[in-house]
Amino acid sequence: MELKEFDALASIPTKEPERQFYFMSKLAHKVAELEKEKGRKLTCYVHTFGCQMNARDSEKLLGILKTVGFEEIDYEDADFVIYNTCTVRDNANQHVYGRLGVLNGLKKKNPDMKIGLCGCMMQEEVVIEKIKKSYRFVNLMFGTHNIYKFAELLCDMYDSDRMVIDIWKDTDQIVEDLPTERKYPFKSGTNIMFGCNNFCSYCIVPYVRGRERSREPKDIIREIERMVQDGVKEVMLLGQNVNSYGKGLENPISFAELLQEVEKIDGLERIRFMTPHPKDLSDDLIEVMKHSKKICRHIHLPMQSGSSRILKEMNRHYTKESYLDLALKIRRELPDVAITTDIIVGFPGETREDVEDTIDVIKKVGFDNAFTFIYSKRTGTPAASMPNQVPEEEVKVNFDAVLKTVQETARARVKLLEGQILPVLVEEINEHNPELLTGRLSNNILVHFKGDTSLIGTIVNVSLDEYEGFYYMGSLQE
Ligand code: SAH
Ligand code: SF4
Ligand code: F3S
Repeated sequence: MELKEFDALASIPTKEPERQFYFMSKLAHKVAELEKEKGRKLTCYVHTFGCQMNARDSEKLLGILKTVGFEEIDYEDADFVIYNTCTVRDNANQHVYGRLGVLNGLKKKNPDMKIGLCGCMMQEEVVIEKIKKSYRFVNLMFGTHNIYKFAELLCDMYDSDRMVIDIWKDTDQIVEDLPTERKYPFKSGTNIMFGCNNFCSYCIVPYVRGRERSREPKDIIREIERMVQDGVKEVMLLGQNVNSYGKGLENPISFAELLQEVEKIDGLERIRFMTPHPKDLSDDLIEVMKHSKKICRHIHLPMQSGSSRILKEMNRHYTKESYLDLALKIRRELPDVAITTDIIVGFPGETREDVEDTIDVIKKVGFDNAFTFIYSKRTGTPAASMPNQVPEEEVKVNFDAVLKTVQETARARVKLLEGQILPVLVEEINEHNPELLTGRLSNNILVHFKGDTSLIGTIVNVSLDEYEGFYYMGSLQE
């Protein structure tokens, strides 16, 4: 959809996305006025906390900001700053409050500066109350369900002297076809579904992201086809539980079937997905992966705990044994697939014996990598009011033991690839050494090697020369 010249007399459309395009043209008019006043471009800064879903949402925010004339900068000293927040663990929240303090300082120097907050934290009433009380300089707050109204909310913000707050409890709306601005030209994430219905007892995501809803397959395919025309080689299909994709649709379709449709897209070279839930990872999915040329050799399979007793308390709907069976089936059927996981240490009531079960599974599966988290109490979740919260000291000892085991298995697994020549999607110039490029193997491992920056965005063969603890140093092959 194209942006039209703003017509102040036109009636405001009620349908989406037409309505948001109306507000974008109004904003473009406003931004042009402000530019004239200041004699320079208006700048914006979007900062993302949290997961891939939030990263994708931020691309939508930036898409709208750029469409209406803002110039993106990569630091906070901007005319409009927005934080897309995460609340999965308390340290994510603390981080936001810390940075808001810095923003307050910057705003004192530039009183015209506008500050917005959105994302998962905003779905919590206590957060809104705290910001209204202690962070009066914030101009705009909205949540996860109405992010598609960003253009309209931004207009309200520029028209108002007061804090604009619009938080919805839930939604069944999915608005397609709003502008987005991809971080990488050659790879992109796309939501195949929103929300989560699993209610794991420790997790706040279902409360802040609402009920599960799947996008129509035709909308997903059309979006990926457009991305590919625009240079995308790798797409990541995103959802909190991708295995339950398609269930609520008028014409239900399984995740495995969706993958087969995506595979057919000409020009697309790699397909990733995040996150499958172990309780319903189907044999069909394993079968589709076995025969696919495009699906990457990586399954992230969050385990959370290896103790059946704790898994039950977590409401995960699988046991130590069934998780092990599944992971070992994947190892058998798809030997070149890397299996990574998430582990929580310190869930209420967790004993050393439970931790030993977790360590046992880590050793038996031999994870290629794992994110290990210390349990964080989230207000409103069932686990927060469970008795037997584990003392910090005990958690720390257990955490270190789990981390050590994970590092050992990851090293052993990744080292198996040494000496092989494998395709790498080149992503960027190495952060620490500008003479090197950094790319990713199909199984998600990073490789650093010498090469020309013109290779960025292409897939090249690299020999994996030296293993350096979770990544490889390699050399480009002709
Ligand atoms: N939907 C995904 C994960 C989303 S959150 C899934 O089910 O796997 C990402 C990870 O954060 C989770 O896998 C879990 O390990 C961790 N996590 C979620 N809530 C947490 C909490 N309260 N404390 C510590 N870690 C948590
Ligand atoms: Fe949270 Fe569980 Fe849903 Fe994952 S599946 S987002 S851990 S409730
Ligand atoms: Fe965080 Fe929300 Fe993702 S809470 S992990 S940003 S869904």
